Amino acid sequence: MKTAIVTGAGSGIGRAAAERCAADGFAVLCADLNEAAAHQTAAELIALGHQARPVRADVAEESSVAAMVDAAIGWTGQVDTCIANAGAMVEGDVLSLSLDSWNRAMQVNATGAFLTARAVMPHLLAQGGTLVFTASTVGLSGMKGVAAYSAAKGAVVALTRQLAADFAARGVRVNAVAPGAVRTPLSESQFRARAADEAEFQALLAQVIGRYPIARWGTPQEIAEVILFLATERSAWMTGQIIPVDGGLLELR
Ligand SMILES: NC(=O)c1ccc[n+]([C@@H]2O[C@H](COP(=O)([O-])OP(=O)(O)OC[C@H]3O[C@@H](n4cnc5c(N)ncnc54)[C@H](O)[C@@H]3O)[C@@H](O)[C@H]2O)c1
Repeated sequence: MKTAIVTGAGSGIGRAAAERCAADGFAVLCADLNEAAAHQTAAELIALGHQARPVRADVAEESSVAAMVDAAIGWTGQVDTCIANAGAMVEGDVLSLSLDSWNRAMQVNATGAFLTARAVMPHLLAQGGTLVFTASTVGLSGMKGVAAYSAAKGAVVALTRQLAADFAARGVRVNAVAPGAVRTPLSESQFRARAADEAEFQALLAQVIGRYPIARWGTPQEIAEVILFLATERSAWMTGQIIPVDGGLLELR
């Protein structure tokens, strides 16, 4: 049974990616730090007639990532694609960031990407497979106030290219999607943290979206569509690519 591991599957882009992979016929291991959210996504997929299982996993913890991959192998015996999507926003410029905050941003977003890739790679190599990271437009260009998150996503971008170079000849393709502003709990909390009240929050949202040539939020489903493309044979001659899905933000300013 062709199998996908999706990290951060309990919410937002990861949940949409789990739904899209399941609809494409993958058995989906729904992994999330939030166990209840992982269960909810898996239950929704099962209710739709798909194959899914939940697992609690912290991508920043080596043993937890190993257990996640073991859960997939114990279930179906294979991993055909891994959607390494789990991430967390950490706000602040270098003057306001504590070392703890910097380390948290790096642990979840960058070390999490490394640990996931390392644990899953032997299984992808076994039959030829794909790895898809969720990077960010802020890993490709600067944005005010997110120094640690941006540096961590920059690491994901570089890791994508490195893994692609190291494993292309051995049948594993590695690509990333770089979303712009997508309305999820992550982006919502980012802008709420910056606003004193609801009016300021709404003004901030309008200001953010005003910078986008296609002047609206992206949807998790729009990102998931590209993730699925990168995960499957439809992108068979692509590796090492970082694909912005961003309403034209990066190219059209
Ligand atoms: N929303 C955006 O605008 C946006 C833009 C660019 C990139 N991204 C990236 O997309 C990915 C998904 O973000 P989202 O917007 O769907 O966020 P979200 O907050 O809706 O979902 C993130 C999920 O990841 C889980 N998670 C957090 N830390 C984890 C850990 N250590 N181990 C396992 N799971 C963990 C959370 O519990 C949550 O369910 C992230 O990597 C994020 O950085 C989001």
